[in-house]
Order: sequence, then structure tokens, then C-alpha cells
Amino acid sequence: MIVLGIESSCDETAAALVTDDGTILADIVLSQLEDHLPYGGVVPEIAARAHLEAADLVVRRALDQAGIGLGDIDGVAATGGPGLIGGVIVGVMTAKAIAMARGLPFIAVNHMEGHALTARLTDGIEFPYLALLVSGGHCMLVVIEAVGRYRRLGGTIDDAVGEAFDKTARMLGLGYPGGPAVERMAQNGNGARFALPRPLKGRDGLDFSFSGLKTAVRRTIEHLPEGALSDQDMADVCASFQHAVGDVMADRCGRAVELFKRDWPDGTALVIAGGVSANQHLRNVLEPLARTAGLGFVAPPQALCTDNGAMIAWAGLERLRLGLTDGLDFAPRPRWPMDEPR
Ligand code: KG4
Ligand code: ZN
Repeated sequence: MIVLGIESSCDETAAALVTDDGTILADIVLSQLEDHLPYGGVVPEIAARAHLEAADLVVRRALDQAGIGLGDIDGVAATGGPGLIGGVIVGVMTAKAIAMARGLPFIAVNHMEGHALTARLTDGIEFPYLALLVSGGHCMLVVIEAVGRYRRLGGTIDDAVGEAFDKTARMLGLGYPGGPAVERMAQNGNGARFALPRPLKGRDGLDFSFSGLKTAVRRTIEHLPEGALSDQDMADVCASFQHAVGDVMADRCGRAVELFKRDWPDGTALVIAGGVSANQHLRNVLEPLARTAGLGFVAPPQALCTDNGAMIAWAGLERLRLGLTDGLDFAPRPRWPMDEPR
């Protein structure tokens, strides 16, 4: 079985072909980074136009890379939301057009479901597992019980963690996306130099909060000698910020693991997914926490952390195998909580 997956919910136009034994036959990602660079963030209107220009191209390239034609595929999946609606519409319409022309099943995939199921593509782990989903727009803890059965344990009450990385980078003039830049700077920094808050650490519940941390980073930068921010200062801010994030994640995930072990005794692993899961410090903090609890730990390879088509193709394949296809009347959704019934 081969499924084509199309992703276009943010600033990457991507298409991939994946087989049911987990082989990625092709994986094409076209980034719009250059288009948005002058604005310091993703501009929805520019993104939608760029997706429109690139959608056919990425599908063509994926087929060429795999050396197959549309006649060889068994289904077409696209991100159906959540995301910037202009882009989502482009991806969904492209997939529907191919499905209709070829008489193939169409599958709408929830973007976060795509991130969450990647661990089964890369590591073949069994349900149920606990997933920390961390990206530019999301930060949540979800129990992945089965395909389509997701139990949200907690999430951010304000900013997503990727957003906090991006804003920290922006305040330091490090450009967009901020995550990789902050991580790189932090390598030469002293994480103990600035005392930044650890929002919600030690509190009941499994929610997150990052807006207070963001504000504290801004104040810290403002208190440094104006116009004379040295490379060392910047590195120390990045390292201190990353440490604070790591501490918060360890606290929240530690609690979540406890609850997960208690209520899902057959649980297999702690999985981290989404763009921020590329962060090595975060992985270093979470891995021992999972191992100590007797759980596996899965973090996708770098290329599958940030947005890509393979995760959508794979999630589509998982759904298709269970007969969970969608009608051509599926309406793209800007908001789409993972645990919401279809
Ligand atoms: O999943 P993703 O590609 O797109 C969304 O669905 O949002 O995630 C993008 C986010 C951005 O906020 C980016 O700064 C962050 O992931 N990110 C990182 C790293 N690489 C990407 N954050 C921290 N460390 C990284 N190495
Ligand atoms: Zn994403």
C-alpha cells in the first residue's frame, strides 16, 4: 500500500510517499523561509499564494523521486487542519482533485495527529503512548490510545513553546524560525546566569504557560547595557531560557508520566514530536525521565520533527488501513482540537 501525503498548514509545502511497511519512498519539503524573512514571521496571505504555486510541483517531484506514477498509489492524504486556512485549503483541494481524478480514497489528517503518529512510522511503537506535542502553535500532552483516539491531558494556557523560542530569537535579532538559532547560541552560554521563571512548575494539573517566561526574557534583555549586547550575553540569555523551558518540561512531563503509568498500565513510551522536538536539550531532559519510569523514549529524526509530508502520508495510511477515509465534502478547519469527534 502506498499513500501520498500533502502538508501545507504553515510555511512548508511538502509531499511524500510512504508505504505500509514504513518505507519513505519520497519526501519533498519546499520551505517558504525566504518569502517570509523580511517580515520576521509567517504572513498568511504570502503563505497561501506560495502553497498554490508549489503544490503541484512537490507532488510531481515526490512521484519522480519514488519513480512511480499516480496509478501506483492507494490513497491521498492532506492536512485538513489546524493551521493557516489559506494553505490548508490549497493542500486539501490538491489532494481531493487527485483523489477524484483517479478514483482514490481521500483522507483528511489532523496536523497534530500527523506529528503524534510519526513515532509509529519511525519506531513502530505500539499504543497506548504518551506524547508531548510541541510546535510553533501548539504545546500539549496527549495520550495516543489508538488511531483517532486521543486523550488530551493538558496544554498551554497562553503561548506555545515554539512561539516562546521564536520570540526570544526575535528579541535578540536572531531571525526566524527561532528555535534552531536559540539552540545554537545556547551551546556557548551559561544557563545559570539569568534567573528566569519556571511558570506552573510544581503546580497541580498538566497545563503549561510560557508568556511570563517570554516577558522575563524581554526584561532581562532590557536590563543589559543598551546597544552593547555581546555575543556572550546573547548566548547566556539563550541558555538560561532553554534551561527554564527544560525545567518546566521535566516537571510537567514527570507528572504526566506518573498519571500515564497509573491509568494506562500497558503504556509503551513517552514520545516527543513537533518542531520543538528537534531540540537536543529537551531530548536530554526527557529521555531519562521516560527510562526511569520504565517507558521507551522516541524522538523523531530531525527531518521528521518539523513539518513534512511523510507524517501526513503515514497518518493517512494508518487511517486508510482502518477504513477511516473522508468524503470530498470535507471542509478544511483552521482550528481542530485533536480530541474533537469528526
Ligand atoms: O511543527 P513545526 O515545524 O510547525 C508547526 O506546526 O508550528 O514547528 C515549528 C516550531 C518553530 O516555533 C521553531 O522555532 C521550532 O519549531 N523549532 C525548534 C527547533 N527547531 C524548530 N525549537 C527549539 N529547538 C529547535 N532545535
Ligand atoms: Zn507542525
